[in-house]
Amino acid sequence: MTGLSADDLKKFSFRVWNYRMGEQVSMLVHLGDRLGLYKAMQGIGPVDSHELAAATGCHERFLREWLLGQAAAGLIERHDDRTFELTDVAAKVLADEDDSLAFAAGAFRGGTSPEVIDRIVDSFRTGIGVTYEQQGRAAAVGLARMTGPWSRLALTSVILPGLDGVVAKLEAGAKVLDIGCGGGVTLATIAAAYPRTTCIGYDLSNEAITLARELIDAKGLTNVEFVVAGGEDLPPTADVDLAITFDCLHDMAHPQRTAASVRRAIAHDGTWLIKDIRSSGDWDQDRRNPFLAMFYGFSVMSCLQSAMSEPDGLGLGTLGLHPHRAEELVREASFGSFVTHDFEDAANLYYEVRP
Ligand SMILES: C[S@@+](CC[C@H](N)C(=O)[O-])C[C@H]1O[C@@H](n2cnc3c(N)ncnc32)[C@H](O)[C@@H]1O
Repeated sequence: MTGLSADDLKKFSFRVWNYRMGEQVSMLVHLGDRLGLYKAMQGIGPVDSHELAAATGCHERFLREWLLGQAAAGLIERHDDRTFELTDVAAKVLADEDDSLAFAAGAFRGGTSPEVIDRIVDSFRTGIGVTYEQQGRAAAVGLARMTGPWSRLALTSVILPGLDGVVAKLEAGAKVLDIGCGGGVTLATIAAAYPRTTCIGYDLSNEAITLARELIDAKGLTNVEFVVAGGEDLPPTADVDLAITFDCLHDMAHPQRTAASVRRAIAHDGTWLIKDIRSSGDWDQDRRNPFLAMFYGFSVMSCLQSAMSEPDGLGLGTLGLHPHRAEELVREASFGSFVTHDFEDAANLYYEVRP
């Protein structure tokens, strides 16, 4: 212990164990979401663990332990050892998936499978990352639920109206491509809001496209189709009114090839809407983001994996497409106009790009 202060050691250990606690609390949030516990508690005030057991069909003893753990984490209010309450504000974040932009519980997908973790370990040795498809269905579902609230609730009310002339075209009947469409929430929203518009989703991952097709079928939408293909391989039709890449350019092994491909597909008066993670390219500035370490976690476990899944992948990773880099990328692909929008989405910036 020479040279080490006991106090420093205690403080550093506290920091490390705090992350271990976060892992456990994350699992409890996953259980609450998966078992419908938050939804069952939404809007009913204080509830006894026996009442919650009756309402959910879960065993009271497990529920009581879960409730105490949630109270210890500050997510649920404890009235006494058996009575707990999901406050209205907590319900917005943990229960209200349909109507709350702040809904977050869907992002707690219960960890990463041991098989995928083994592949990620290998990637550090080989330099070749794991694709989204190899990350499996659970990853595709988790992503769709994490990004879903903004696609469902802000796209047609805030984001598209913030672009020059796009809504009028969509209303009249336009051609939209969603590249890296994931689970299809964005396209489903556009297709439902603008029935005259034709929507085509592209994604490299069969898992994502399967999920997206399930969503479109469940909604009975007939103006959407999907193609399992990369953004690099869009048909050069020069007739696309709106191309979308949401939280995926930084995941692509060759985003510059996708930019060139979008340029060939887009109409002369078309719009390319890029949404990508808010970052600056400057460590000290990015360090002000209290969730910076989480974003690096997303990168190592997921985004950078995908961006390095080919031997010559560019490897941008989660924080790699900051505004300066994004502008460089689109100008290299011969786009002439680049406008940054801040729609007050804490995690993302939006770029309106035109030929
Ligand atoms: C983080 S997810 C975002 C999905 C969706 N846009 C959303 O907002 O939820 C990234 C998606 O990009 C896809 N992707 C990665 N590289 C791609 C490429 N080269 N072409 C098309 N899609 C790609 C992945 O399969 C994954 O579904």
